[in-house]
Amino acid sequence: MSSTTNKPAYDQLKHMETLVNTYSRLPPGQSSAQPNCAKTARVSTTSILLTGSTGNLGSDILALLLSDPSVTKVYALNRRSSKGSALERIKQQFKTKGFDETFLWSGKVVFITGDTARADLGLEAGLYEEIRQSITMIIHNAWPINLQRDLSYFEPNMQGLRNLIDLGHASRASQDLRFIFISSLSACQAWNSYRDTQFVPENVLTNTVVGCGFGYGASKHVAERIVSRSGLQATSIRVTQLCGRFSGDHWSPSEWIPIFISASIGMGILPIYYGVISCVPMDVAAQCIHEFVSSEKPLPPMLNLSHPRPFPWDVVVEGVNRTVVKNMGSKPLPTTSLANWMSLVKKSKHMAEIRHPVLKLVAGDLGELNTQSDSNKASVQVDTPDPEHIPGPGLSIELAQLYSPTLRDARQVSAEDVQRWVKEWFSTGFCRLPTSIANYAKL
Ligand SMILES: NC(=O)c1ccc[n+]([C@@H]2O[C@H](COP(=O)([O-])OP(=O)(O)OC[C@H]3O[C@@H](n4cnc5c(N)ncnc54)[C@H](OP(=O)(O)O)[C@@H]3O)[C@@H](O)[C@H]2O)c1
Repeated sequence: MSSTTNKPAYDQLKHMETLVNTYSRLPPGQSSAQPNCAKTARVSTTSILLTGSTGNLGSDILALLLSDPSVTKVYALNRRSSKGSALERIKQQFKTKGFDETFLWSGKVVFITGDTARADLGLEAGLYEEIRQSITMIIHNAWPINLQRDLSYFEPNMQGLRNLIDLGHASRASQDLRFIFISSLSACQAWNSYRDTQFVPENVLTNTVVGCGFGYGASKHVAERIVSRSGLQATSIRVTQLCGRFSGDHWSPSEWIPIFISASIGMGILPIYYGVISCVPMDVAAQCIHEFVSSEKPLPPMLNLSHPRPFPWDVVVEGVNRTVVKNMGSKPLPTTSLANWMSLVKKSKHMAEIRHPVLKLVAGDLGELNTQSDSNKASVQVDTPDPEHIPGPGLSIELAQLYSPTLRDARQVSAEDVQRWVKEWFSTGFCRLPTSIANYAKL
């Protein structure tokens, strides 16, 4: 790996620190932030404000909360969307995942459309007051997963986080309220460049440099720091890359691994990656989060969520080739180095013609930040991301395993799982073999 001195990274670092300070301000009337320390155990019944339940993880979390008898009410707060009402979108998620839709009519959930970037969350005063009086937990899961945007794009989300923290302080149960923030492994995206220990500890990382890189990861780093300085009993859950479900065949095609697999199948060649993948199946992750947040024990400020039994990339190659051979009647796809695969993607006329989303992912070699060096700013150095190690650093999960038996006992992802997910992508048209191979299959 090469180190280069880097002005954009330096500017980003300064921007991150400004955001941490701006959104860590104390709410009016509060003179000092309590150190973030979850001292009390969970209250016996729970009324929860959950954001982002129209999404993949959020809908799984919602389903688990609705089936939990100790949860009395869920306020499902989502943003307005041209894709339909929040209820319609949640219903679609439940249908795709085979969840029991009757929970949605149980009266336990209140569907709310709002805007967290507004101080009143975009809610009518009476509803805001009802929520303020009743909630004992906030699970803030909504966040844009956009790897193309820089840090500024995420500023409304910082404001939204701040407004939810303020709601936590204003709530009747503020002393006992649990504030849960769903963070991401990418909050420590530059960890490998700055630390020689392999695993990221289950701590809030106060060295801003480890969060530098893609705007999305930088925004999660800033948010973790704001949460840790909130003065609430707050816990961030740093989630690794999620993958398809163990129960069922759904893995959202908008994630980077599905996009890589779809592009590989479309070009008829798979990349080789030498590391291991710590992806957690979506349903397992939701179950773990449910176990964390409903724990009777006080929660720590940070929990890492990563698979205790990572799997080698060979499992992906085997799973894809099983599908291609057994389900599509074709020959197995050959493999090439990841670096060569990326250059094939960039040169592929077919990928360009169909405007495959992989093109955005490989644009700039995943190392754009490092290409524009400026020797005037010598204080920040960023290593060029190694394309053979895209998934980033490993997460230490010792604490998390104490809180979640599901995590402790999770089985390893197998080639059969990958085959099931890829088969579904063929059925929806997300994966298609190139004509030459598809023709071979017809022979
Ligand atoms: N998926 C992963 O592999 C992964 C890994 C690590 C961490 N995470 C974290 O897990 C959480 C959920 O991710 P997911 O996989 O469920 O993603 P998702 O399917 O894209 O869902 C994201 C949710 O957040 C909402 N949202 C997005 N941008 C928003 C904005 N600007 N304002 C308000 N709401 C917004 C979405 O609303 P719409 O339905 O209206 O778009 C949706 O409800 C996120 O915080 C993400 O960072 C995910």
